[in-house]
Amino acid sequence: MEVADYTFFPTRVVTIQFPETGPLNADLCDLLERRPELDDRSNVHPDAQNLLHLAETVPAIKQLRSMFIAGAKQWLAAEGIAGPEEVDLLLFSNRMRRGESTIVHNHSTDLIGIYYARTADYDRPPISAADGGDYFEAEDGVLVLHDPRFNANLTSVSNRDHIKVYPRPGLMLIFPAFVWHSVTPHRGDFHRLSFAMNFTLRWPPGPAERHSLK
Ligand SMILES: [Fe+2]
Repeated sequence: MEVADYTFFPTRVVTIQFPETGPLNADLCDLLERRPELDDRSNVHPDAQNLLHLAETVPAIKQLRSMFIAGAKQWLAAEGIAGPEEVDLLLFSNRMRRGESTIVHNHSTDLIGIYYARTADYDRPPISAADGGDYFEAEDGVLVLHDPRFNANLTSVSNRDHIKVYPRPGLMLIFPAFVWHSVTPHRGDFHRLSFAMNFTLRWPPGPAERHSLK
């Protein structure tokens, strides 16, 4: 008897806990406190307000851009992808008041980065790969990553069709943009603040012919 066991089509999620981000996070929170009109969280499309237009005048945004680029490089290296020459960047914030949540969505780009500036406190690690957590328990401000395989929850009775992320300030996640994700209701009396970056990879011109459709 010959038995083979494969895990096909895994989805890579990279997390980075940046050290000593207190001053950066304070600056980011202060920026959105002073200018709440910058928050454009409900718009995940390319016409969203791109906070990177502040990069040359707001040092915290410039620093955040560098951190996101470092995160994307980590994800690409982990996945063994060396081809992209450039990347288009779109940065927007998600500033949540008490009781607010984010329904399931994905982003129309290649990679998503999320960085947390202010969150609730949790007495557990940000991710437990062995235990996805109770799917229906709406804990305080938890990011839920949903299995991108359609109806994956129907194929097993295990808890492996989602992963919960218990965020903390200074934490960044990088994952493919096809991963559906949501956020359970924020319960604190402060603004929970995260930033999302859309990464659209730019590849060198290939040998394919291109024709006009007009
Ligand atoms: Fe999102």
